Amino acid sequence: MTTIRAGIAGAGMVAAVHADAIRRAGGVVVGVAASTPERSKAAVQRLNAGRAFDTAEELALADDIDVVHVCTPNALHGPLVRAALAAGKHVVCEKPLSLTGADSEELTALAERSGLVAAVPLVYRYHPMAVEARERVRAGDLGAIRLIHGHYLQDWLARPDDNNWRVDPAVGGASRAFADIGSHWCDLVEWVSGHRIAELVAAAQTVMPQRAAAGRETFTSAGDGTDSGAESGTGHGTERGTDHGTTAVAVTTEDAVQVLFRTEQGATGAVVVSQVSPGRKNRLWFEIDGAERSVSFDGEDPESLLLGGRDRTEILRRDNLSPGAARVNAVPAGHPWGYRDCFAAFTADVYAAIADPALRGTPEQSPLYPAFPDAARTAHITDAVLASAANRSWIEVS
Ligand SMILES: NC(=O)c1ccc[n+]([C@@H]2O[C@H](COP(=O)([O-])OP(=O)(O)OC[C@H]3O[C@@H](n4cnc5c(N)ncnc54)[C@H](O)[C@@H]3O)[C@@H](O)[C@H]2O)c1
Repeated sequence: MTTIRAGIAGAGMVAAVHADAIRRAGGVVVGVAASTPERSKAAVQRLNAGRAFDTAEELALADDIDVVHVCTPNALHGPLVRAALAAGKHVVCEKPLSLTGADSEELTALAERSGLVAAVPLVYRYHPMAVEARERVRAGDLGAIRLIHGHYLQDWLARPDDNNWRVDPAVGGASRAFADIGSHWCDLVEWVSGHRIAELVAAAQTVMPQRAAAGRETFTSAGDGTDSGAESGTGHGTERGTDHGTTAVAVTTEDAVQVLFRTEQGATGAVVVSQVSPGRKNRLWFEIDGAERSVSFDGEDPESLLLGGRDRTEILRRDNLSPGAARVNAVPAGHPWGYRDCFAAFTADVYAAIADPALRGTPEQSPLYPAFPDAARTAHITDAVLASAANRSWIEVS
């Protein structure tokens, strides 16, 4: 198989995870582009990439790149995906695919017409125990599904001096907490349960109406994650001054959301999404309650799955897995499976489809990896959440 040549646009926290996953999937990181030529040069060493590109647009057009990984702030996703597809490149675009459901739909149509691979790292699908939950549902072990509930909680924006480009709607989009992490939760529970959220009612809160203009970038761990790269930057709001750290900016995006929903198949559900829950670092948790059994999965403790029953409740370990879960599992039980392993397994599926067009899915059959239609689906749910919260009413998901 010829080596797949990747370019990474963006050089922050998730770009480093992509670089690792690309290599584990047998690819090579040809180059990287950050927000400025200087930052791109600095990123080459950090990501162990071949060379620096002055701009992401240049990277998207490079002749020696087969697949563009879009790891920039959200507002740049749509333009970069369009440039990459137009140049005949396969695309792995970070979530959210774009800032609205309508634009995500357009990108999905463009990708479909191109025949190229167009994937989105909704990577919690690659925790073997989440796959095991899906397999149990598909095998009918739960009986008819009645309730789907859970939460996705983080705390990295819990303080008024926490800030990040995601807070600025011009860069991150109109929805923050829900688009950023609620999208992962909805994708995962729909994929595991086989149910689709048909209608919902949401309440959204901005618990901190102001934040420090140049706050601590608490989520970013790599060396190049502090700039949005967009002209509007973190200068959102009205009161930006030169004394960074003391000047407050107005915040409009939500810190937390609660959603009640009904599925097309008649189950009901609820989810709480928050980035201001002290002590919760990345707590994606769900439970699906059927007539016979329930399953619950905790992304911070992904080695096990609770299989509930009236007569007997079991804790399944990451061992003796169903075939679907065994397919993604790459290390034996007792050797913990992590976030980067999910990314590696996802990228392996994506690169297999780049190598073999037969693995890219058909109108009847989705590909093995999460793709643009899945991300468009989460964008429509996000749009419905914002509209419902604004109107204080139930709304159908388009
Ligand atoms: N799938 C997941 O689990 C997951 C996890 C984290 C982040 N993400 C997504 O990945 C994206 C990046 O998030 P992050 O946490 O890495 O952010 P980050 O702030 O750590 O990094 C953003 C990077 O983009 C670069 N950048 C800004 N403007 C640019 C431009 N014009 N051209 C090229 N690069 C530019 C910055 O220099 C920085 O390196 C977001 O869309 C986010 O939603 C997904």
